[in-house]
Amino acid sequence: MTDSSRQLPWSLDDIDFSAIEPQRVRDDVAMFMLVCSASFVESGSDTYTGNLVERFAGDDEVGHWLREHWEPEELQHGRALKAYVRHVWPEFDWDAAYADFFAEYAKLCTMDELEPTGGQELAARCIVEMGTTTYYQALHAACTEPVLRDLTWRIRCDEVRHYKHFHAFFQRYRQAEHLGRRHVLAALVRRAIELRREDATIALRHAAEWRRRSPLGRVDGAAVASSAELIGQAYRLVSAHLPMDLAVRMALKPLRLSPAVQRFVMRPLSMLGAGIVHP
Ligand SMILES: [Fe+2]
Ligand SMILES: [Fe+2]
Repeated sequence: MTDSSRQLPWSLDDIDFSAIEPQRVRDDVAMFMLVCSASFVESGSDTYTGNLVERFAGDDEVGHWLREHWEPEELQHGRALKAYVRHVWPEFDWDAAYADFFAEYAKLCTMDELEPTGGQELAARCIVEMGTTTYYQALHAACTEPVLRDLTWRIRCDEVRHYKHFHAFFQRYRQAEHLGRRHVLAALVRRAIELRREDATIALRHAAEWRRRSPLGRVDGAAVASSAELIGQAYRLVSAHLPMDLAVRMALKPLRLSPAVQRFVMRPLSMLGAGIVHP
């Protein structure tokens, strides 16, 4: 056991995979898509951390937290979700599918993808952690299988903590960089619309294509004719359970709006629905 793994709030040993009730989830194609694609993105976290650590090379506090806490926790999310997929859907070739996903995903993780300043990048990270928090909360609400409910809630609580850390770091940078709302908003919107949606799309596409190639695809048969249909089912399930009020509250927090303005913009934003949220 490494020093950093000792500091994690939970470990894979805490998850009782032998207690899984497969009949509650095995035939749920949309849940497979959501758990599997999340396992891909989480497992690729260390590629992204390399860029972040480089960006905050001169800041010991942020760099240390990213290396010793954030990255090991995100990678553990990937390992736990992968283990869950393997228990419930053993016919799915996770390693081969992940290799395919990673070849495409790694090209996105370049320094160019980061925001122009440290403060803007931290604001953008708040959006990502808002996305993961609400995503896992939606999965928790949507599933009845007890081990997956336990796992998604543990991950959701980690993501909330990540959000709080990024937000606290952001406060320090906002002052040092004299960031106005316009700069913060630009970073929030860019990250919400562009990068994460691309991640989600790539992960879902590879999950769908490899499912269709596996024996599971033959079981799905004519009911699931295409990858697009599989992806559509996944989006419909997560959208139906997203806590949109929470998503909007977390997304707006870095803007420090007055309570009246926040109330004014919350309602229309809450109705926008899914699409920006994926680990
Ligand atoms: Fe995560
Ligand atoms: Fe996170």
